Amino acid sequence: MSSSSEQGNQQWFERWREGRIGFHSDSVQPLLARHWPHLAVSPGARVLLPLCGKSGDIGWLARQGHCVLGVELVGEAVRGWFEAQEEALPSAASRTNFDRFVSPAQIGRAAVTFDVGNFFHLEAALSDKIDAFYDRAALIALPPAARQRYALKLAELCRPDVEGLLISLERDERRDQGPPHVVTDDEVHRLFAPNFVLEKLEEQRDERGMTDIVWRLRRRAPLSC
Ligand SMILES: C[S@@+](CC[C@H](N)C(=O)[O-])C[C@H]1O[C@@H](n2cnc3c(N)ncnc32)[C@H](O)[C@@H]1O
Repeated sequence: MSSSSEQGNQQWFERWREGRIGFHSDSVQPLLARHWPHLAVSPGARVLLPLCGKSGDIGWLARQGHCVLGVELVGEAVRGWFEAQEEALPSAASRTNFDRFVSPAQIGRAAVTFDVGNFFHLEAALSDKIDAFYDRAALIALPPAARQRYALKLAELCRPDVEGLLISLERDERRDQGPPHVVTDDEVHRLFAPNFVLEKLEEQRDERGMTDIVWRLRRRAPLSC
């Protein structure tokens, strides 16, 4: 791993330690609640949340009956999720490159699994276990070179026809002060169109001049020769 990506990772540990997590919300993202039902992901489906933090979206997806797999670098974030559920932190099961924490299914909610470690270290073999994905503030948390690797990793983890939502960000102020980083529509196409069919579902601009853009992505079948 390059030293710039190590520094980038370090920054996330510091942010969680210092509570600089302005991106976090305990409530479900309205854009997720509005658009997810159109994906027709079946209740028992296994849904990958890359760079998941301790977002309220995790519980919302689990309450739709989906078995959530959240991948998060910082253990503090995952501990925070269990605290918010008033659940004791389970013991970690150690796997290659990751510590796994499982919150079993409960009445009205499917199981939630967290793999604590670096998303880029997930193994391609996991693709057998992923039926859908949801990216909120994951792509836009990463600097440009890492975004390219992220798009390729996501493609590697998705079988043909696996679908998901991705929320990108544009700003009126063009200077990028991220994270969160501005990721233009052109860049979203450049990163994902080789491996996914893309459909723009909604643009939502706020009073600070930030626009959330919701994309539906479906993994293409690999080209046959
Ligand atoms: C902007 S936050 C978004 C969190 C969550 N998706 C949300 O909507 O609240 C980005 C998260 O990605 C985590 N992260 C950053 N780089 C990562 C990596 N390489 N692998 C796994 N998680 C990472 C950070 O610790 C942080 O919690």
